Amino acid sequence: MSKNLVQFIIEEQRAIAGATGDFTGLLSDIVTACKRIAHDVNKGALIGVLGSAGSENVQGETQKKLDVITNEIFIESNQWGGHLAAMASEEMEDVYPIPARYPKGKYLLVFDPLDGSSNIDVNISVGTIFSILRAPEGVNNPKAEDFLQPGTKQVCAGYALYGPATMLVITTGNGVNGFTLDRDIGEFMLSHPKMTIPEDTREFAINASNERFWEAPVQRYVRECIAGKTGPRGENFNMRWVASMVAEVHRILTRGGIFMYPRDTKDPKKAGKLRLMYEANPMSFIVEQAGGMSSTGRERIMEVQPSDLHQRVPVILGSKNEVERVVGYHLEG
Ligand code: AHG
Ligand code: MN
Ligand code: MN
Repeated sequence: MSKNLVQFIIEEQRAIAGATGDFTGLLSDIVTACKRIAHDVNKGALIGVLGSAGSENVQGETQKKLDVITNEIFIESNQWGGHLAAMASEEMEDVYPIPARYPKGKYLLVFDPLDGSSNIDVNISVGTIFSILRAPEGVNNPKAEDFLQPGTKQVCAGYALYGPATMLVITTGNGVNGFTLDRDIGEFMLSHPKMTIPEDTREFAINASNERFWEAPVQRYVRECIAGKTGPRGENFNMRWVASMVAEVHRILTRGGIFMYPRDTKDPKKAGKLRLMYEANPMSFIVEQAGGMSSTGRERIMEVQPSDLHQRVPVILGSKNEVERVVGYHLEG
């Protein structure tokens, strides 16, 4: 019989000298949050959760009802356990401190409670992305600056994908494992052990409507893919764009591919669209742990020193040889 996620983590933690069970407890609360979100996403219109919330988040994006609901679910499920020092989310401008009525722990949790939320009303896959960091030694009331650690410092990263099946994919720096929610027993069961990304691919994902805003190296790469067999690559490429990063990364983990939300000139104040702390870093950790590569085009995403909780970065990730090629085009100028 395959094992559930919590059993898997307990067994993994046993191998680590000095593990206290704190991390396992935290992950078990995250699992509960994702099950609750899966329930609400799945019921959709039946429980009145579709549509706009009529508010904006810190980034000036219109919030969907489910952006707000899933953020609350994540907070509620994770604040009481005693494992966290603080949380931060796409949907909250400032750090969320653990209320005084609960004990505090040593970890920091950063999350995008609902990724791809523009897809929610049209019943296309959405997800949740999370990243776990350690609170700096001796810090009891973490501030935003305490979260500003490069992706290489992540203790764990994961995403839940609410698709035809609900899945949870995680890494603790020891490979990537995927679990599928068995609704009959309410458990995430290990279904995709040791996920790896093929080094080569003939499939790319990018929002091509932004082409005129891209930099030359990305324009060149995509032009060459589209030119296909008669172009410089000498091979035909396929294209996909789901507009849910979780779904794109999951496809890449399953059959390879390259995903790009590159730097563009659409809004000169923004370096890209995706957020470093709760989208780019956790996905980069997972992709690298699966043998893929993740870059801004100019540097490894996980080595970017964050300067703001909500900062954006260009993202180019997926099958190693294709990401290397795009990075090479950036180096050539
Ligand atoms: P979110 O719903 O959390 O704001 O994130 C959406 C992100 C990402 O998941 C997706 O890849 C991208 O935005 C889609 O962007 P376009 O709207 O440009 O297609
Ligand atoms: Mn997102
Ligand atoms: Mn979101």
